Amino acid sequence: MKLHRLVMAMLVLSSVGSLSLPASAEAPLSLEGSAAPQPWQRYDDWTKARWDNYNTLAKHDTTPPRGAEIEIKSVTGDAAKGQLLAFDRRRGGGCLACHVMGPKTQALPGNVGVDLSEIGNAGRTDQWLYNYVFDARVFNPQSVMPPWGKHGFYNEAEIRDIVAFLKTLKTPATFADKLNDPEKRPQPVEDRDGLDPFVNPAAERIEAGAALFKQPGPNGKACIACHATPARTFKRWAVEMPKWEPRLKKVLGIEEFITRHAKATTGADYLMQSTANTDLSIYLHNLANGEAIKVDLSTPDAKAAYERGVELSKVKIGQFNFSCVDCHQTGANKWLRGQWLGEPRGQFDHFPLWRTSRNEVWDIRKRFEWCNVQVRANELPPDAPEYGELELYLRKMNEGLKLAAPNIRH
Ligand code: HEC
Ligand code: HEC
Ligand code: HEC
Repeated sequence: MKLHRLVMAMLVLSSVGSLSLPASAEAPLSLEGSAAPQPWQRYDDWTKARWDNYNTLAKHDTTPPRGAEIEIKSVTGDAAKGQLLAFDRRRGGGCLACHVMGPKTQALPGNVGVDLSEIGNAGRTDQWLYNYVFDARVFNPQSVMPPWGKHGFYNEAEIRDIVAFLKTLKTPATFADKLNDPEKRPQPVEDRDGLDPFVNPAAERIEAGAALFKQPGPNGKACIACHATPARTFKRWAVEMPKWEPRLKKVLGIEEFITRHAKATTGADYLMQSTANTDLSIYLHNLANGEAIKVDLSTPDAKAAYERGVELSKVKIGQFNFSCVDCHQTGANKWLRGQWLGEPRGQFDHFPLWRTSRNEVWDIRKRFEWCNVQVRANELPPDAPEYGELELYLRKMNEGLKLAAPNIRH
């Protein structure tokens, strides 16, 4: 009898839940298929190169690099040739991307690595230097130095020449212009007004997104038909994304939500990275401008996805063998050649944005893809679960910051 009453109460409650409280309903989602174009192909104007033999975020070998220290009694090589190789930007950016190397250092060296200007006085053995350049992981598995020999940037004879050059470095660098000194170079300040359409072309896309919101899809319905007051209903929505989505068993970001929800409601095909998808994303982000970012890790699934994101941020990928934290934590607030490396907090409170260097609007997933391809790792499709997990991790790092979207960056 008691049980019966309980069941009745539950039935009443659940019918109240679905009938008179539609706000607690689940957003319809099209669960089938990919939210990105299939098969995924890299953007036309990006490099066509592929790095199939190296780690990606989806497929990585985490066993520590094998290989023992290579035995070498003394290195003879051509120091002049070694200097050319070390300074050659076409060789994976060259050593100056991260090191100052004595008085001959060329323009805009970086400082992710130590100043090597006096490495010739440091008492390093030839064998140590050779191995450190060939594959520093032999000494330090977490090294931020790319394995120049092991990953095929330079051959053995070239590394001998580079070591010969290193041994000649015995004098500190001097910089006539402080812009060339990575310790003194002023860090870039971003103070452009992201919401001024004369400054930021992405600002115009707010209107484009608002128009799409009112435009009927293939089945005759527009977003506005079900969401009459978006400014009120979605005042905080964007700052509470991404989130774990049990129906998809993955972290759902704003752009993938748009694809799957539009498909299920208006019938529109707004694949990720399409102009329509990005416009709606800008519009929905903009509705939450000024609101503080909040991440929901209250369920075990969400927590686990976040933990996976933290791990992914440390996975070394690509021919360069870099993880996100190599550049954005270990290397943060330093220079990679002329590029200032930002830290995770402050990186994910202003997307989507206009990239002046690319003349395009980018959502966060495109940025992830770029940061993969830059380290010569194959990127993943924008709807990859790994990117969702990284997004969750990065959002957590930005919790409490106020959303400012769209924005503008180099
Ligand atoms: C992406 C940044 C980066 C680039 C590019 C880079 N290095 Fe390094 N290098 C580092 C970092 C960081 C360290 C310090 C510790 C570590 O992470 O291994 C280092 C350490 C070293 C050391 C050891 C210094 C010492 O005494 O402890 C040598 C030698 C060295 N680098 C040589 C080179 C040479 C030669 C090149 C070019 C072929 C080069 N590096 C390019 C980041 C870089
Ligand atoms: C047929 C009705 C319908 C249409 C059309 C529709 N939605 Fe929804 N939408 C819903 C329902 C139901 C929910 C879940 C309950 C709620 O939050 O109102 C929802 C939720 C949402 C949410 C909040 C998601 C969440 O996590 O709760 C957003 C944002 C949203 N819709 C945007 C859109 C956009 C953009 C379009 C047009 C592409 C659209 N909707 C079209 C019915 C619709
Ligand atoms: C080789 C170094 C390097 C690696 C590795 C790298 N990035 Fe970046 N990243 C950059 C540079 C350079 C920029 C542009 C300057 C900046 O804002 O830091 C950038 C920018 C970003 C931005 C945009 C910052 C903004 O304010 O608009 C995000 C987000 C980002 N990276 C995420 C990642 C993630 C996630 C990973 C790991 C998958 C990663 N990056 C790996 C170099 C790197």
